[in-house]
Amino acid sequence: MSTTEQRVAVVTGAARGIGAATAVRLAAEGRAVAVIDLDEAACKDTVEKITAAGGRALAVGCDVSDEAQVEAAIARIAEELGAPTILVNNAGVLRDNLLFKMSAGDWDTVMNVHLRGAFLMTRAVQKHMVDAKFGRVVNLSSSSALGNRGQVNYSAAKAGLQGFTKTLAIELGKFGITANAVAPGFIVTDMTAATAARVGMGFEEFQAAAATQIPVQRVGRPDDIANAIAFFTGDDAGFVSGQVMYVAGGPLN
Ligand SMILES: NC(=O)c1ccc[n+]([C@@H]2O[C@H](COP(=O)([O-])OP(=O)(O)OC[C@H]3O[C@@H](n4cnc5c(N)ncnc54)[C@H](O)[C@@H]3O)[C@@H](O)[C@H]2O)c1
Repeated sequence: MSTTEQRVAVVTGAARGIGAATAVRLAAEGRAVAVIDLDEAACKDTVEKITAAGGRALAVGCDVSDEAQVEAAIARIAEELGAPTILVNNAGVLRDNLLFKMSAGDWDTVMNVHLRGAFLMTRAVQKHMVDAKFGRVVNLSSSSALGNRGQVNYSAAKAGLQGFTKTLAIELGKFGITANAVAPGFIVTDMTAATAARVGMGFEEFQAAAATQIPVQRVGRPDDIANAIAFFTGDDAGFVSGQVMYVAGGPLN
């Protein structure tokens, strides 16, 4: 594919963790990649990894839960990188607590970043996908969608993203657009490090304990998730839509 035909991917929350690994992986697949995170400067490392390997990338500061910032970010990406036709809604936060101690603010923050953020980003990008008669949307769900103590907000948001994904698949299919969800299990990132701290365990010890509960007997790495996202965003995956793939080292349902 020539540079003018190169597909443009948008990855949110791509300054670190799963988003950073996904941005680098999609660039290796030949995509130009918009690296979105709250702070534009924090996206520098991911962008440099991509450009050092000969790829094209753009750092974009944007709070995905802010409507005006999302519209401005997508307009800038279309102008500077090209019309985006691949979207990975990955940005996420935790505000864990047991129900009786959870504040309404912590409920709203989690809903706003995961659900409102995915909605705003997808609505902004879909017009470019419809014009191109091609699109790939991947939403990050979680094994927590099946229920997890201390995460009533997060598990509701991650289950919500599964319904969001299936409805996108139904509405947008006729435009050549697919929508799928990847639901990671335990992946080693700052997010799981924060969970270890919350439960008062060292991160190494926390990982070792988690690995014993996982059929493949290890915890996941960001690249394990990037691999699944690369499949769903591929040109060859056009008949796979509305699916939720658990990437968790074993079966979950
Ligand atoms: N790590 C895991 O075990 C795991 C498991 C299941 C699902 N997930 C999901 O995968 C995704 C990535 O998780 P991670 O572990 O890499 O997390 P992480 O905390 O390492 O990275 C998340 C990134 O999202 C960014 N972000 C947060 N709020 C944002 C906003 N409003 N706008 C833009 N960017 C924002 C953060 O700045 C950060 O760079 C999340 O949606 C998470 O819920 C992670």
